[in-house]
This record gives sequence, structure tokens and C-alpha cells, in this order.
Amino acid sequence: MRAWVIGLVVTVVPCVPAAAEEKSRAVTAKNGMIVCVSPEAADVGVAVLKQGGTAVDAAVAVAFAMAVTYPAAGNIGGGGFMLVHPSKGAPVVFEYRETAPAAVTRDTFAKTTDWHDNKAVGVPGTVRGLELAHKRFGKLAWKALIEPAVRLADDGFVLDAPMVKSLNDAVKRKGGSDEFRRLFGKDGGKATWKVGDRLVQNDLARTLRAVAKGGADAFYTGNLAELFVAEMKAGSGFITAKDLAGYRANERKPIHGTYRGYDVYGPPPPSSGGIALVEMLNTLEHFDLATMGPESAEARHIMAEAMRRAYVDRAKFVGDADFVRVPEFLTSKDHAKKLAATIDRTKATPSEPLADGIILSTEGDSTTHFSIIDSAGMAVANTYTLEDSYGSRIVVRGAGYILNNEMGDFNARPGVTTKKGRIGTDPNLVAPGKRMLSSQSPTIIAKDGKPLLVTGSPGGRTIINTVLCVATNVIDFQLDIQSAVDAPRQHHQWLPDELKLEGKNEELRAKLAALGHKVGTHKQGDAHSIWIDPKTGLYHGAADRRINGKAAGY
Ligand code: DON
Repeated sequence: MRAWVIGLVVTVVPCVPAAAEEKSRAVTAKNGMIVCVSPEAADVGVAVLKQGGTAVDAAVAVAFAMAVTYPAAGNIGGGGFMLVHPSKGAPVVFEYRETAPAAVTRDTFAKTTDWHDNKAVGVPGTVRGLELAHKRFGKLAWKALIEPAVRLADDGFVLDAPMVKSLNDAVKRKGGSDEFRRLFGKDGGKATWKVGDRLVQNDLARTLRAVAKGGADAFYTGNLAELFVAEMKAGSGFITAKDLAGYRANERKPIHGTYRGYDVYGPPPPSSGGIALVEMLNTLEHFDLATMGPESAEARHIMAEAMRRAYVDRAKFVGDADFVRVPEFLTSKDHAKKLAATIDRTKATPSEPLADGIILSTEGDSTTHFSIIDSAGMAVANTYTLEDSYGSRIVVRGAGYILNNEMGDFNARPGVTTKKGRIGTDPNLVAPGKRMLSSQSPTIIAKDGKPLLVTGSPGGRTIINTVLCVATNVIDFQLDIQSAVDAPRQHHQWLPDELKLEGKNEELRAKLAALGHKVGTHKQGDAHSIWIDPKTGLYHGAADRRINGKAAGY
């Protein structure tokens, strides 16, 4: 526990989760920090920072490296969001979410049950997005930033136990392509990977070399685009050469809110992350969480109620703002005040009546986040994804990279919103050129123009709540960063009407059940985070114990 909060009444919190008492595994450094899932990619990032690269240079190098070393989610065939807080000036978001191809309509996926085929692929955004961020904030040569990834693909990298399990599981699963099994299975899928084996990806190395030399154009047009379109055609996919060549990444203004005197920045639509996070934090400002304590039923209940309400608004109002009008009031203090007034401290609000106009029907990993900061204080929070673990499990033949299955993030069945959590509301229906709604939430919390917390997570709709838990652990409960990341989290997404908790705290569960919550158990995504001590300026990197990862500083 610590007391670093500036300009706030610092409350001594009596109840600290067990994790806080363990010796912190956080890594402290003065000049730069990378925290990500892949140890090899973290080392690549630190080397870039040491060469004088900016946090964005490091992010580009880490993102390409993870397309090699963490193929479940690291990618060039998917999309994501990069939030940059420069050392001076306003934060920006580089949005590189996938788009729907021209050939789809709102009903194209109404009957889809299998999302592991070519039709599920959205036009990939990662390479354009990284290029856009690099053009704006990069200092080192683009080519130099991709070279480490080329080497990792060409020479291979040694598989540790989590990678062995991940690859063996992925190639065993039904769906996806033979090429996926050939490239990601040992001996073409005939054997099983063992710890210490090496995964070599020659086709991917060739693709990365072409992108290093020719920039994003080499990915979206020319030979590589031809391979992509051939792969689409071979599996009746929708994406054409025109869709691919027409892809644009966007520089967007982040969603900005304040929470107890701190500035909060998150991604704007087509992610719901920034809006929902700010809406929840605004709601929580009406309650004294610090006094309640982090593992208290009171705090957990209030947080669940804030979550429930924000996820109703998410379903009602949020989609790609280039296609639908997303109301500004969602992030206003006034709206949160009204929401807070509807929260009963003594009992859970049932979810169904909150549907208010949304008709409810009666039927029935993987993403990755990394956090970076450089010696000048520029911070990057980047989340990118293939949607499912290994995406569609389809590889572009000859190019060696995995395609996303992000089309599943649209509301596939117009009008069909179910108690189990399927959403069918209008703002996120499929349309040509539209970007599917995301929950990715790379987040930076700042004070006086300087980043204090850099965080984000995988986990689909749980992402926003994971970030909320980390943020409240840091701001309200004043946990050190490792404890804030490791502490058990919670998730409520309106529908299904269930409060999911990590951890085995039976007393807490019983109290929440007594308040009327249906309490479930699950594991939430990892939140590889950095906290910057405003007193010393030191960077504290916390890799999440839930998954592999490395905090690498210098
Ligand atoms: O953009 C989104 O919200 C989802 N495609 C993220 C999927 C995800 O996090 C799955 N991984 N754990």
C-alpha cells in the first residue's frame, strides 16, 4: 500500500488483498519500460528504447515481434487501438480496427454459427495503424523496427510451456485451415510440440521483410495483396483487392474523462472501451469506495451496478461513430449522476427492466495488450487482436500470417438481444466499410499532463471492467501496481445478469448473493501495466500473474 495520490484526501485502507502482502514482482526502472505477454518481444522493445527510439518506435517493434512470438493474438492480420500520451501535448489514438468488406449486408451473418471461416475475416488494420503511428511519433527507421521480428521468424524462437500448450491446443481444434495446422503444428501437425522446441516461420519472415522494405503499401497492394485475395477466394471470403487497398487507419481524439481529479484517456468508437470506462468511473465518483475497501461487498456491489448500467448504454448507443450517432451525454457527469441515483446500496438492480426499449428474445482467447514508456515520458497503451485465439485459424498461404475473425464482433442478428448476452441492437449492425464495435480499452490515467498509469487487457467484453478494476485499485484503494494488477477482479455486463468474480472469497460471495446478485466465477484477462511514481519519476512495470509476461526496463 502506498500514498502517492496528489491533491486527494488519502484514506488509509484497512483491508488489503493478500496479493499486496507478497513481495512485489514489479520491475523498477528509470529510463524506459515495456510490459507485454512475450518475453522476446519485451526484449526487442527495450533494445529499441536503448537505441534512442520513442515509445511508439518500441510499440511498433513489439507489435511486429509479437506477430511472430505470440501468434494467438499478436498479429499483422488483425486490428486494434494504440493510445499515445506524448511527453508534451494532447494524447491521441491510432485506431486500426478492421472494417467490413463491401460485399456484406446487415443480415449476412444472421445465421452464422461458425466464425472460423473466410467470411468471418475483417479487412486487417494492424500494418496501416502501426505505420500511421510511426509516421507521427517515430524516430528510428521503420525497417529497423521490423528487423527483430524478421529475425525471430527466420531463426525461430524457443517454446516455453504456455506456448507449447497454446499451439498444441490450437491445431487440435476443429475449424480453420490445413495451412494453419501445417505451419503451427509440429512437423506439419503430425507431432506435438515440447518445451524447448523452436517455432520457425519462414513465410511470415518473407512477408515481414516485404513490409519492412515497402511499408504498409507492400501489405495492402501488390504481391502480398494478391496472396490475400487468393486465400479469400479459395474459401469463399468476402474481401476483395479493392477492400484491402482501400483500408485506412485513423488518428482519433481519445475519450477523455476525469476521475477524482485524474485525467482518464481511452479509445473512442469503434471501441466502446473509453466511453464505458469513463461512464463507470463517473458513476463511481458518487460513492466513497476507498472507505468501503477493495474486497468489501459494498464496493463490489456498487461497482457491479455501475458496470451493469454502462453495458446497457453500450448496447443501446455505441457503434462505429462514422456510421451512427453516438451521443455525447454518455460520458457526462450529469448522466452519471442520474445513473448513480438509481443504484440501491442494499440490493442488486435486476438487469432485464433496464433493457428499456431493447426487445429481449428468449433463446439461448484472444487479444493482447502491452504498455510502454520511454525516457522522455511518452507512454503507449496498445491493445490488438485477432478476436479469437489465433483468429479464424486461417493462414494466408505463401504469406504465413493468421487472419482475424473480427466480423463476429458486429451484432450479427438484427433485433436479437438475449438474456444470455447476445446483443442485436442497431448501432453495431453490419454494414459495408463499417468497423465492428470493440471493447479494447488501452487506457492512460494522467495527472498534470503526465501519465501515471498505463494499462489495458484482453478478454472481450470483460476488458473494460478489468481496466476499471485496475484503475480503482490504484486510485481508490491505493494498491501498489503489482497488487492492483494481481488482485481478484469482477465483471458484470448487464446480460447475462450475473456478477462474475475471480478468487475464492466465500464470505464476499455470500454477502453479494444476499444483496441479490447471481454470483459466478471466472478468470479475467491479464493487465500488463506501468505505474509512474510522480514523486520519483521511476517507472514500475507489473506483468500480470494470470499469464506469461515480462516487465523489461532499463
Ligand atoms: O475487440 C474486441 O472487443 C474483441 N474482438 C476482443 C476479443 C478478445 O479480447 C478475446 N480475447 N481474449
